[in-house]
This record gives sequence, C-alpha cells and structure tokens, in this order.
Amino acid sequence: MKEQRFYELCSDVAEAIEQAVSGLIGKPEAGEVLYIGADGTPTEKIDEVAENVALSVLETDGRSMRIVSEELGEKVIGKDPEFAFIIDPIDGTFNAVNNIPFFCVPVAIGNRDLSDIRYGFVKNLINGDIYTAEKGKGAFLNGDQIHASSFSKLPDISVISYNHCAHAVLNSHTVRRVRVFGCAALELCYVASGVFDAFIDMRGMLRVTDIAAGKLIVEEARGRVTDGSGSPLCTPLDVKQRVNMVASNGLVHDKLVV
Ligand code: IPD
Ligand code: CA
Repeated sequence: MKEQRFYELCSDVAEAIEQAVSGLIGKPEAGEVLYIGADGTPTEKIDEVAENVALSVLETDGRSMRIVSEELGEKVIGKDPEFAFIIDPIDGTFNAVNNIPFFCVPVAIGNRDLSDIRYGFVKNLINGDIYTAEKGKGAFLNGDQIHASSFSKLPDISVISYNHCAHAVLNSHTVRRVRVFGCAALELCYVASGVFDAFIDMRGMLRVTDIAAGKLIVEEARGRVTDGSGSPLCTPLDVKQRVNMVASNGLVHDKLVV
C-alpha cells in the first residue's frame, strides 16, 4: 500500500518534469549554465526547470520528507521526515540538451545511505517506459517482472563501460559489445532487464542521485551492484559524494571487479 503511494508520487513528479521540459529538448537555451549546483557541477536551465517543478509537486503532497536532489542538495519538507526522496530531476542532461534520445527521471525512496533504498523508479522520457523495484519484491518494466541476463562468460557479454580503455579487466579480455549512452540510471535499467550484462563506471564521478534507483532495480532483478573492488555500496545520501560502480547480472561480477 505504502509502495503504491510511492509509485503515484514518483509518477506525478516524473510526469510534471516531462511536461515542464518538453519545450526545451534540443534547444540551446536548455543548456545555458545558471550556477554551480550543490553537487559541485553546473546547473543548466533544463535542470533547474525540472527540479523546480519536482519540488512544487512534492510540496503539495503533504507528507514530510527529506528531499535529496542534484541541484539543490537537500531540503526538508514538514517537521518529521518519513523517508528520503532522492531524485535527479534530469539524468542525461547533455543528451536532453542535444536532442539525443536517451534521458530519464530517476527517483529512489530511502533513509540514510545507498544500502537502505526501499523503492526505485526510473522513467524513460523518450518512450515512457517505467522501471520500478520494491525491496524484496522484484523489479518491473511497465508492470512486468524483469530479470538480469544469464550469460556467465566474458566473451558473450555486452557491457556499458565508461572505462573500456582504462579498466584492466576489459583490456585483457574481449567482450562481445561495449556501449556508452550517457545516462547512468537508464543504463542500469538495461542491465536489470537483461539487455546488457554489466555496467562499469570507475571514473569516481557518479552521484547518489544518478544511481540510487537503478541500484535497487538491478538488485531486485537478481543482479549485483558493488564498488570497483566488489564491496557493497553504502554511500551516504549526499550529492557531494562520488561513487565508483560495477553492476552486473551477478554471474560475471567477480570477473569484472579488481
Ligand atoms: C550524468 C549521467 C551520465 C554519467 C555522468 C552523470 P547528469 O548525469 O548519469 O551517465 O556518466 O557522470 O553526470 O549530469 O546528466 O544528471
Ligand atoms: Ca542531472
């Protein structure tokens, strides 16, 4: 019941963002840098428009919550927060500004850190696909259960890797495919749904807002998510934190961590 209310809240927020940014996609003004956001990276016009509309939906919801959002950092609504609402108002800003059709709204519901996320929601703003996961209850794409892939040998796998030149493991083995799409939350959902077998980002640049939802979605699809050495991720829900990540179908995981 509670989780259904999370779905409705996330969906309302994503829909409001979708409408608010629709006139900005592919427009140079969308990429105008307004200021440096709380996460330490430039906030572009499209990011601010998306975050502002998300905030107004959350403020009218009535529940007390701690919002963790990429541009503003943190804001508490009400007196006694029931949960943390972790959002990247637009993941894949470069893609959205340049009309590259791969960007989304990821939201996670959690508490303290990346280890206690209980609900994940990612909406693909190009085709409307919605990925969800509830802790202990599986992962879903538009309501249908999804699972990570079953490949176990490196030569068979398709990898989303931000480190295909630098990552030692991929240097010394041949994998079937390597791709990079520039929207971490959606890329993780492609691992959860078995389209890709692994995601690797060892640049030390990912923020909790990019990955909190996708992490739970991969785990609930029977995949595995760790840092680059195979340890669990328990990064605090703070937009200044930076994370390295390996996410996989679980079967190839030990071959990808160093
Ligand atoms: C970016 C995307 C991208 C990742 C970058 C992020 P943004 O998020 O998630 O996949 O490689 O590190 O900054 O800036 O578009 O929200
Ligand atoms: Ca963003």
